[in-house]
Amino acid sequence: MLEYLSIEGGQKLKGSVSISGAKNAALPLLAASLLSKNTISLSNVPNVVDVKTLLKLLENLGATQSFQNRSVKIDTTTVSSACANYDIVRKMRASILTLGPLLARFGHCEVSMPGGCAIGQRPIDLHLKALEQMGAVIELKQGYVVAKAPDGLKGTTIIFDKVTVTGSENILMAAALAHGVTKLVNVAKEPEVVQLCELLRDAGVSIDGIGTANLTIVGSYGELLDMKDIEVIPDRIEAGTYLCAGAITNSKITITDVIPKHLESITLKLQQMGFGFEIGEKSITILPAEKMKASDIETSEYPGFPTDVQAQFMALCTQVDGTSIIDERLFENRFMHVSELARMGANIKLKGHSATVEGDTKLICADVMATDLRASSALILAALVAQGTTKIHRIYHLDRGYEDLEGKFSALGAKIERLEE
Ligand code: UD1
Repeated sequence: MLEYLSIEGGQKLKGSVSISGAKNAALPLLAASLLSKNTISLSNVPNVVDVKTLLKLLENLGATQSFQNRSVKIDTTTVSSACANYDIVRKMRASILTLGPLLARFGHCEVSMPGGCAIGQRPIDLHLKALEQMGAVIELKQGYVVAKAPDGLKGTTIIFDKVTVTGSENILMAAALAHGVTKLVNVAKEPEVVQLCELLRDAGVSIDGIGTANLTIVGSYGELLDMKDIEVIPDRIEAGTYLCAGAITNSKITITDVIPKHLESITLKLQQMGFGFEIGEKSITILPAEKMKASDIETSEYPGFPTDVQAQFMALCTQVDGTSIIDERLFENRFMHVSELARMGANIKLKGHSATVEGDTKLICADVMATDLRASSALILAALVAQGTTKIHRIYHLDRGYEDLEGKFSALGAKIERLEE
């Protein structure tokens, strides 16, 4: 039975919502558990499908794990297989994060080419090229990456041609167990990458340059690491989505359990659009705007404006005064929400990687389809202000990355229900 969301528009929101742990931080930390010689516990893990998929994949490789009350206990010392098979990997692109650690630990592995969100080509060439530079021999066979490094991976200098988040994470994990020193240049600076560095550093790996684009990592010559327990950082993308919900309904709401610094590009943009803020140590309150103003947006790597909240801002831009231009610089095909928003009455023109969004548009309910994880949340936001009851289908995309979505929105006063069709 497929589920859908039914949302009645026109309600103001109020109150506060607690933000979950970051899916995109939990995934690399879980993959890194493959490098640990002891059981580790991760707390503040979001209960979302992508996390469960990776846990299943690790279990499939031989790990033992439990996931209760947002806490994962995982023991990978029992892992015997180095083959991550298609059935699981196809469900989630981030499964590719097992490539670096498996190869570094076993000297060989087979990982199916990833599936996941259909937002552009999303190649993994940079991951593979970097591993080859570390001495791996890689072949692509029947949809699998077959990698070998019988004498271990060797430290070297790697310059990433593009900033890649999971690419940086994969190579960091490989470098942690490599023979010798690896220098990484043009590394992603996302908070999720920083937290992975911290996990490895606390396990005894010497890493210089944490939080910068240049990292120097001293490998352990194949020795497994003495990993410590860790608390997953808050999800800045979930936080950004709820801030946009406050903004689009022009309501005062508070998000709690966040790291405000991680959200600066989002709060600054909302400020330009006319919203006020009260920023606490771990909370942010958005205050209604006297006049909601248009603003241009260009996505980029952290600390720039995140591509993962581009769709949510596009929904918001339909309600402001004036025309906004949104430039998507990371993923060429990340505009699938445009046609669904158009079905609700949005006036958006696409040209290449740029979308021109007319403001002051009256949105009207419709049956719409979630197409990828973040695109779907844009539809929820649009539904919050649309006239009538919008039905959002294919919400399994949302369940990959948002914990207790309808519970959290209901608590803020939205009229939202999960139903079966
Ligand atoms: C991660 C996030 C995702 C976010 C994205 C960009 C996770 C699990 N996912 O995805 O939510 O939208 O960062 O912030 O953390 N590229 C190549 N070759 C490669 C790898 C990437 O050309 O080998 C390109 C991509 O096509 C894209 C750009 O580099 O244009 C950035 O992609 P990347 O940072 O790798 O995204 P992900 O790590 O997959």
